[in-house]
Amino acid sequence: MNVRRVEIKSLATYVPPRLLTNADLEKMVDTTDEWIMQRTGIRQRHIVDPGVATSDLAAEAAKEAIKRAGLKPEDIDLIIVGTVTPDMLFPSTACLVQHKIGATRAWGFDLSAACSAFTYSLTVGSQLVAAGGVKNALVIGADVMSSIIDYTDRATCVLFGDGAGAVVLAPSSDPNIGILDFEHMIDGSGGNALCMPAGGSRMPASHETVDQRLHYVKQDGQTVFKFAVRNTGAICERLLKRNNLTGHDLDLFVSHQANKRIIMSAAERIGMPEEKVVINIDRFGNTTAATIPLALNDAVESGRLKKGHLIMLTSVGAGFTVGSLLVRWGL
Ligand code: UT7
Repeated sequence: MNVRRVEIKSLATYVPPRLLTNADLEKMVDTTDEWIMQRTGIRQRHIVDPGVATSDLAAEAAKEAIKRAGLKPEDIDLIIVGTVTPDMLFPSTACLVQHKIGATRAWGFDLSAACSAFTYSLTVGSQLVAAGGVKNALVIGADVMSSIIDYTDRATCVLFGDGAGAVVLAPSSDPNIGILDFEHMIDGSGGNALCMPAGGSRMPASHETVDQRLHYVKQDGQTVFKFAVRNTGAICERLLKRNNLTGHDLDLFVSHQANKRIIMSAAERIGMPEEKVVINIDRFGNTTAATIPLALNDAVESGRLKKGHLIMLTSVGAGFTVGSLLVRWGL
């Protein structure tokens, strides 16, 4: 499919040190550790200190990813930052990261696809490298969800955390290794089910919008849950079928981490046994664009993900946005 095959040359992640546990949340809203664990699988999340922004987390992960790729910041040609919590509406977080890490030759942009931002950014970045337009692409998924979460709303505040992950993409040194195929879709009819109503052009910030707490994430959990269960499994099936594969051919299933129940139902649908599914939502919560690199990093560090493994990355997020990639791992 690709003009030239593109591989993930390195991976690095960063989470802020401060923890927000279910016990902490029990003191803030009417919830219990038992409810959160049963319904979501989350035990704790990492949360930034006041004043720390998405570009700060992104830059930490990016610097380490560049180092691990054996490159210097000035070797980077392109920076894509997948995020739903940019430092500001503009300039783009990619510009802020470029300046912070000294990637003086790079161009770049932010990509808005909520929880699918990492899968979308991987596809866009790898296609630009595949076409020969750029050589080394830095793809980052980073979010400071705590900046847009209403910590008086128990329906959302228990779900999210902060974090960042970065990969460097480059032409594959081994043609068997790299990003093999991708599939994406959007369904804008679900736009209202998960959104931040105010602060954009539809409803600019005003005293009223702040009083009504409209600059926070609003979610119709059940609607998103049903869409995610249906579509995570479905997109994986389509991608596998197109490549004449089944879930049995995969070594690891690395899904966006929004809810353990969503991940397991998708895994079951494509026939992935539990031991081949990465779950780390218990430690990080839903970090939106950062969940997949955080999950990949865990799999590498625990020895579950090895060079030559065939893996599937997949996500569903606000929009709705859906994505899935088939990758032959090379690290
Ligand atoms: O990553 C972006 C995409 N996002 C997602 O994929 C999230 C998808 N949705 C979900 O994961 C689930 O819908 C949630 C975890 C958000 C909620 O789980 P649920 O099983 O759908 O619960 P629910 O919203 O139907 O609520 C069940 C009950 C309600 O009480 P009643 O009406 O049955 O009395 C809620 O008020 O649980 C109540 N509830 C809570 N109770 C304790 C809602 N939030 C909480 C809470 N603690 N934090």
